Amino acid sequence: MSTQISTPDPELVLRLSATRCGARLARHHAVRQLHAWGVHHGSGVSDTAATVVAELAANAVTHGRVPGRDFELRLVLGADVVRIEVSDTRSERRLPAREDVIAPGDDAESGRGLLLVEMLARAWGVAPRSPGKTVWADIALAADTASAEGR
Ligand SMILES: Nc1ncnc2c1ncn2[C@@H]1O[C@H](COP(=O)(O)OP(=O)(O)O)[C@@H](O)[C@H]1O
Ligand SMILES: [Mg+2]
Repeated sequence: MSTQISTPDPELVLRLSATRCGARLARHHAVRQLHAWGVHHGSGVSDTAATVVAELAANAVTHGRVPGRDFELRLVLGADVVRIEVSDTRSERRLPAREDVIAPGDDAESGRGLLLVEMLARAWGVAPRSPGKTVWADIALAADTASAEGR
């Protein structure tokens, strides 16, 4: 209906069950989609993105899970980053502040998933959504996307 004045960024949007299997599928489909976009399987960027998707999806299906509700994975290929978004439906549980992710306390109760995201992503953050929230992370595409080393 409306006139399209620019080509939208390529994107993948998937709804997956909030289970460990769903989290594994998120990682799997992310790697496949990236490969289709030229970020080859096994490349540094692919591995980095896969790790971030896996950590965010694991969090969505544990801390962000509401029984019976799916979570969502969205990937957007930008000019120099791939944006990863993982949305869950649980509003009342919030993520720790970035300062607490960077400098975790001594209690060591929780893992290091978000610290890994902090180290691997160019930027990351949380946005509210109704219901729930979206945790997003931008992964730099770097030179190896354009390299001729892959097929
Ligand atoms: N999607 C989420 N929803 C609610 N809380 C979250 C979510 N992701 C992370 N958190 C909170 O942040 C903490 C740190 O996450 P993370 O570093 O991945 O460690 P872990 O998952 O091993 O606890 C979690 O223990 C949880 O309290
Ligand atoms: Mg975690």
